[in-house]
Amino acid sequence: MNIRERQILKGSRVTLVPLEKKHLSKRTEFINDPEIQATLNFDYPTSIAKTEAWFSKNVLAPNRIDFAIETADGDIVGFGGYLNIDKVVKKSELYIFIGKAYWFGGYGREAYKLITNYGFIELGLNRVYGYQLGNNHKAHNSVKKIGWSVEGFLRDDITSHGEVKGRSIVSILRNEWIANPVYDEV
Ligand SMILES: CC(C)(COP(=O)(O)OP(=O)(O)OC[C@H]1O[C@@H](n2cnc3c(N)ncnc32)[C@H](O)[C@@H]1OP(=O)(O)O)[C@@H](O)C(=O)NCCC(=O)NCCS
Repeated sequence: MNIRERQILKGSRVTLVPLEKKHLSKRTEFINDPEIQATLNFDYPTSIAKTEAWFSKNVLAPNRIDFAIETADGDIVGFGGYLNIDKVVKKSELYIFIGKAYWFGGYGREAYKLITNYGFIELGLNRVYGYQLGNNHKAHNSVKKIGWSVEGFLRDDITSHGEVKGRSIVSILRNEWIANPVYDEV
């Protein structure tokens, strides 16, 4: 399939919608879930007040974009987007988290695919990358399934929940993505 015909915002399971104030209480709830937070590095615990302040500060930021991830019924299953959008080098860091009640349903994998598509098609990126803690096998499998590569393991790279931890850096480049037949199948 021609890359321009690939799905950006709407897949068979989930749709990416721009993050709005009405999504912030669910975002706060998910970030404060210890099992979701275990493999993230967000401010923790957070509050609705802090999330609203974060939203007001960032909603017009030129170097990031944030989505809520919804089912066809309008249930919010997660959140994702891009941080550190570098328009000169054309690279950005993808983030995602899915609510625990929706894990194992293929929502994460499809959302990864749509956000990756958005980065290459709409933002015109050349490199999409992400960081995954060493024990985050689900996130690892999700991106490998859609053709990303593990570039390497950064030892003792981040403090997460009071411990210094290593993390993998994973990525896909535009030419790999264009040539990637997996995108049409997943
Ligand atoms: C990582 C995350 C986004 C995955 O979302 P999900 O909707 O649960 O994942 P999916 O159902 O799409 O499964 C993705 C793949 O993970 C793999 N997987 C599922 N459960 C697994 C497990 N317990 N161990 C290892 N791999 C697993 C499978 O390969 C699966 O693909 P398959 O079923 O087609 O083989 C979600 O678990 C999450 O939000 N985790 C907390 C936040 C986080 O870690 N975000 C990523 C930060 S880098």
